[in-house]
Amino acid sequence: MDKISDALQSVRDLADSNKELTYAFAAIGAGVVGLKLAKCLRSVYRYTIRPSHNLAKRYGDNWAVVTGASDGIGKALAFELASKGFKVGLVGRNQDKLEAVAKDIAEQHKVETKVVVFDFNVHYTAEKIAELSELLGVFEKVSILVNNVGMASYNPLEKMTDENIHKQINVNVVGTTVVSKIMIPKLRANENRAAMLIIASIAAESPCPNLAVYSATKSYDYQLGLSLAQELKDKIDVTVVNTASVKSNMNSGRFLFTITP
Ligand SMILES: NC(=O)c1ccc[n+]([C@@H]2O[C@H](COP(=O)([O-])OP(=O)(O)OC[C@H]3O[C@@H](n4cnc5c(N)ncnc54)[C@H](OP(=O)(O)O)[C@@H]3O)[C@@H](O)[C@H]2O)c1
Repeated sequence: MDKISDALQSVRDLADSNKELTYAFAAIGAGVVGLKLAKCLRSVYRYTIRPSHNLAKRYGDNWAVVTGASDGIGKALAFELASKGFKVGLVGRNQDKLEAVAKDIAEQHKVETKVVVFDFNVHYTAEKIAELSELLGVFEKVSILVNNVGMASYNPLEKMTDENIHKQINVNVVGTTVVSKIMIPKLRANENRAAMLIIASIAAESPCPNLAVYSATKSYDYQLGLSLAQELKDKIDVTVVNTASVKSNMNSGRFLFTITP
C-alpha cells in the first residue's frame, strides 16, 4: 500500500513540477479516448441508424443466388434479398426444405424463386463440376451470389474421422471455390455491377482449439474473398464477412452467448 501511495505521490510531484508534460499526456489520453469513442459511435451508426444500401439499384434485378439456403444464415439472407426485390435462387442438398423456403419466400415477398439441389460434400471430379455447372445453368444472369454453404465438425484433430476432415474441406473450401468459378461469368453477364458475398467466420482469424480444420477452411474462404475482391474489382464487388456466433443448426450449444443472435 505504502509503495502505491509513494508512486502516486511521485506522479503528483512530477505533474506539479512539469505542467507542460502533464498537459501533453492529458492531450494524448484525450485523443485516444476520443478516437475510441468515435469508432464506437461509427459502429452504432452503421449497424442501427444508417439506412441500408439500395441493392436493387446498384446490382439490377437479376438473380440473387444463395448456397446453403435451406436453413440458418443462408435462409435468413435469402428472405432478406427477396425483401429487396430480387428473384432468389436457393441452392442446397435437401429438396423438401429448400422448396418449403422457396414457397414461404414467394408468398411473403411475391418474387420468383428457383431451387437447385446439390450435395456439396462430394469429390469434385470433372464430371461432378460439370453436373453442378449444368444445375446452376438455370441462372443465366446473376446480380448477387452468396457463398454461404458451410459445415463444422468439433473435435481435436487426432480424434477427427477422415470423413469429417474431407467433408469440411469439400463443402467449405472446394465447394465455395467451384461455385464461385462457375458463377463469375453469370455475375459478369449482369448489366449492372454484380456482388459476391462469402460467409467466412471469425474462426478464420483466431486460434480455435478443436475446430482446427474448420477454422483453416474459413481462413481459406477469407483469403479467397480478399483476393477475388481485387481480381474482380472491374465488375464484381466481393465482400467477405467473418461472422461471429449466430444461433443455428451448426451452432446450437457450445458457442452461444447472451448476445448471440
Ligand atoms: N452459426 C455461426 O455461429 C457461424 C459463425 C461463423 C460463420 N458461420 C458460417 O455461416 C454459414 C452458414 O452456417 P449456419 O450457422 O447458418 O449453419 P446451418 O444452419 O447448419 O446452415 C447451413 C446450410 O448449409 C447447408 N449444407 C450443409 N452441408 C451441406 C452440403 N453438404 N451440401 C449442401 N448444403 C449443405 C445446410 O443444409 P441442410 O438444411 O440440409 O442442413 C444449410 O442450408 C457457414 O458457412 C458457417 O461456416 C456460422
